Amino acid sequence: MSAVEELPEQPHPDRVRLRFLQVGEDHAVKEARVPAGTTIFDAASWNGVAIDSTCGGHGTCKKCKVKVIAGGAPVTAVDPRAFSTEELRNGWRLACRAATHEDLTIEVPPLQTRPKAALVGVGRHVILRPAVQKRYLELDEPTLEDQTSDVERVLAAMDDVEPRVPLELVRTLGRTLRESDWRVTAVLVDDVLIDVEPGDTSGRRHAIAFDLGTTTVVATLLDLETGQPKAVRSILNAQQPFGADVISRISATMLDETALGTLRRHAHETLAQLTDEVCDEGGVDPSEVYEVVVTGNVTMIQLALGIDPEPLSMAPFTIAARRLPEARASDFGLHVHERAPAVLFPALGAYVGPDIVAGILATGLTLDRRVRLFIDVGTNSEIVLGSSAKALATAAPAGPAFEAAQIRCGMRAADGAIEGVKIVDGEVQLTVIGDVEPVGLCGSGLVDAVAELVGAGMLDRSGRFVLEASERFAKIGEENVFYLTDDVYLSQRDVRELQFAKASIATGWTILCRELGIDPSEVSQVLLGGSFGSYLTPASAVKIGLVPRLPLARIVAAGNVAGEGAKIAALSVTERAAANAVLEEVEYVELSGRTDFNDLFIDQLGFPG
Ligand code: FES
Repeated sequence: MSAVEELPEQPHPDRVRLRFLQVGEDHAVKEARVPAGTTIFDAASWNGVAIDSTCGGHGTCKKCKVKVIAGGAPVTAVDPRAFSTEELRNGWRLACRAATHEDLTIEVPPLQTRPKAALVGVGRHVILRPAVQKRYLELDEPTLEDQTSDVERVLAAMDDVEPRVPLELVRTLGRTLRESDWRVTAVLVDDVLIDVEPGDTSGRRHAIAFDLGTTTVVATLLDLETGQPKAVRSILNAQQPFGADVISRISATMLDETALGTLRRHAHETLAQLTDEVCDEGGVDPSEVYEVVVTGNVTMIQLALGIDPEPLSMAPFTIAARRLPEARASDFGLHVHERAPAVLFPALGAYVGPDIVAGILATGLTLDRRVRLFIDVGTNSEIVLGSSAKALATAAPAGPAFEAAQIRCGMRAADGAIEGVKIVDGEVQLTVIGDVEPVGLCGSGLVDAVAELVGAGMLDRSGRFVLEASERFAKIGEENVFYLTDDVYLSQRDVRELQFAKASIATGWTILCRELGIDPSEVSQVLLGGSFGSYLTPASAVKIGLVPRLPLARIVAAGNVAGEGAKIAALSVTERAAANAVLEEVEYVELSGRTDFNDLFIDQLGFPG
């Protein structure tokens, strides 16, 4: 390896190419392209190259030793503590400190320990590297000959980490040490010693991942030893009385100055109730939850933290901060460990928020070479297109058709909702949630009904009913309707609502394809996410033109990707860094004001069939 000072001056590229030579793994070679500035450690982890570590990339364990054999990586302040001058000259570096500024070839020594991994997100294999770590310590009692202070005694027993010590901990440390006969467990979260517990509790460490949705809030209690969930619960957001969507909740804060406080309290109550429920079910004391991860759309996060959401609702739609300052679980009203931090995701914009960044993490969209399209279908639909080379995101205002609020017989996806429709030889076959009498139509049922009517020739490509094609057509007042049952029908206006919604989304991905310079047929996978998108029938989504016309195997339901992203962030600090990097890696494309928007939108209104 040549020392960095010997290299010619080069402009910093946006992306660098890394070659990993895995010593021992049959000398396996892996290549990766990552944004310049990414550490070798993160780049390796994102690309499935395992590097030793017990500190999770915090620069304290000095186990992540790699050898840079081509290209230069500057020596950092920590390197001389881990290597001799000779080793440094030979290219040895701590991978978690070494930023990549040019193309490198890196030799990775074999692992001393096998990292544990968990399968999370959309088939993602995540190597466990939680920020929460525990160390069982057996300390020597002080004597007149050894008057080392309590704090120093604890820190000296963990010579591979150099954590910060909060004052609150020092208040109780002396008593804890003495009452536990100097047998204690240190609890570290990132670089902070958040607690010293009596006895050996090293096998018990937990985190909770929350998806704070506008309608539903989901909590997953995670065992950080195994990476497995111990309990999952969901309940309705207690902010519901203030309106079903974000705009009505923001409006409430603008009309009544006490509403922000009330909405905040409702969010806290919802999160607290879920915490009680998952801890009860998992048999875990809330004080052994040392970290929480909270994701949600920008409005939900700002309301829960008591940040005025008004600027989100009007042009130019500004958010309080793309990266919010450090927060604690107590800022969300949570009674877990009193010093547990709350991990938040960044936001790309007012309508491409932390939930979408979490979704990008869960799908691994920015880590994969394939060009993939992720659509979170809802009143405001977020669309992300790209690969590890380049990714773009936008938000398309789809209107309330999918939430069924504007649909004559619309209802939420609950018992009695028609969620699937088939028309075979003119006969209507329905799938109803809960196997009860159908009472309404939820979003996926609406999409199915329209797709099937188009397929059966009962709805033309422009979206008009072909009245002579079925006896199920009738008139209610001035409006034509198609009866699915004696009581549940689809109206011509419902079809129009859906046309506007899907045209808005299709215009969004069409524009992103143009910006990326690809044809929609080149998309290798479409991931439909969110509480609505996950239930869509891929064939129907293609038939109505909501997604590009691709083989059905390429269209997959991605589930609650925001919640999965929150779990991944709780399990791995490396993945958390990848989520933070989304701000630099994904470019936001604004649809409003584009000259090509209207023409494309009109093109997309029809049904391809
Ligand atoms: S020092 Fe621990 S991972 Fe680098």
